[in-house]
Amino acid sequence: MQAVAVVGITKNYVLPDGSEVVALRGVDLQVAPGEIFALLGPNGAGKTTLLSILTTLLAPTAGTASVAGFDVVRQPAAVKRRIAVTFQELVVDGDLSGRRTLEYHGALYGLDRRVQKERITELARLVELEDVLDRKVETYSGGMKRRLELVRGLLTDPEVLFLDEPTQGLDPQNRVNIWKYVRQLRDQRGLTIVLTTHYMEEAETLADRVAIIDHGKVVGEGRPADLIRTLGADVVTISGQGAGDVLAQKLEALPYVMHVTRHATDSQHLFQIGVDDGDGRLAAIVAIAAGTGFNIQRVNVNRPTLGDVFSPIQAKHCATHKADPRRK
Ligand SMILES: Nc1ncnc2c1ncn2[C@@H]1O[C@H](COP(=O)(O)OP(=O)(O)OP(=O)(O)O)[C@@H](O)[C@H]1O
Ligand SMILES: [Mg+2]
Repeated sequence: MQAVAVVGITKNYVLPDGSEVVALRGVDLQVAPGEIFALLGPNGAGKTTLLSILTTLLAPTAGTASVAGFDVVRQPAAVKRRIAVTFQELVVDGDLSGRRTLEYHGALYGLDRRVQKERITELARLVELEDVLDRKVETYSGGMKRRLELVRGLLTDPEVLFLDEPTQGLDPQNRVNIWKYVRQLRDQRGLTIVLTTHYMEEAETLADRVAIIDHGKVVGEGRPADLIRTLGADVVTISGQGAGDVLAQKLEALPYVMHVTRHATDSQHLFQIGVDDGDGRLAAIVAIAAGTGFNIQRVNVNRPTLGDVFSPIQAKHCATHKADPRRK
């Protein structure tokens, strides 16, 4: 059984003037138990909408979804008992102490007081909040508030934890700490974790599998390393001025080129070229560019990151793709 199964989920929001916003257009995905799954996408992609549907807060317009084996529309109470969610917008009340916030939450869920006390101690220790637990939440830093949210979500011992942008607005140090806790949770408790993010790095370091979502559709899915591999072993980036169309055609025709993405402004072109061997092909690529009269200003060779997988989507108006020749 999958921890999360989504089939053909569509969501249209109806605005007060009667017009509609299509937020999700036929999303399919599956998350296995114990997996850390990241939904990666730019602002407005539909990440929060999908999370809201999976956590039963929002009804889909069409399609079905189940969480921990229960249908989110027909069995919302059973789903709610098995999940926890932390939101993009923090909902903690500043006037209470961290401990009181957690106790209220536990009471709301009818947790046994002794169990609750033990869990608060254990979880606060896990996320290194024990020293500030009796301070008012309004005195917490952004990172502390996020960690408190994490403890609040975990207090009810969920099977599936949904985290909407768990590190938004945090500095790199705090972000790395949250990643560490998330990974520990999965390793120690076998929790399934579904998180949304628009940080490539977050998806790449944290997730077992990633779905890239854009304009309400899943446009790429797989293990981070596999998504990266579809780009080629290396990415040669060249920027400069000249006949971009001609160069793009020439590059695409090369047998060792897997993927060409072009970002163009008025006079500047930036090419990201996925190749089998960056160092080995660099000289040939530079020679071809020079042969078309392209005036090269910068060149470099990198291993691809999820950012490279992602940027063609953001810049898709000027992207050209080509099938991976190794996949035949
Ligand atoms: N309550 C709402 N009413 C109308 N439209 C909405 C509502 N909530 C979201 N939308 C629209 O649905 C689309 C998806 O929004 P959503 O919040 O799910 O995106 P997101 O991927 O979470 O973005 P972000 O990265 O900014 O959090 C956007 O076009 C947004 O404007
Ligand atoms: Mg969002």
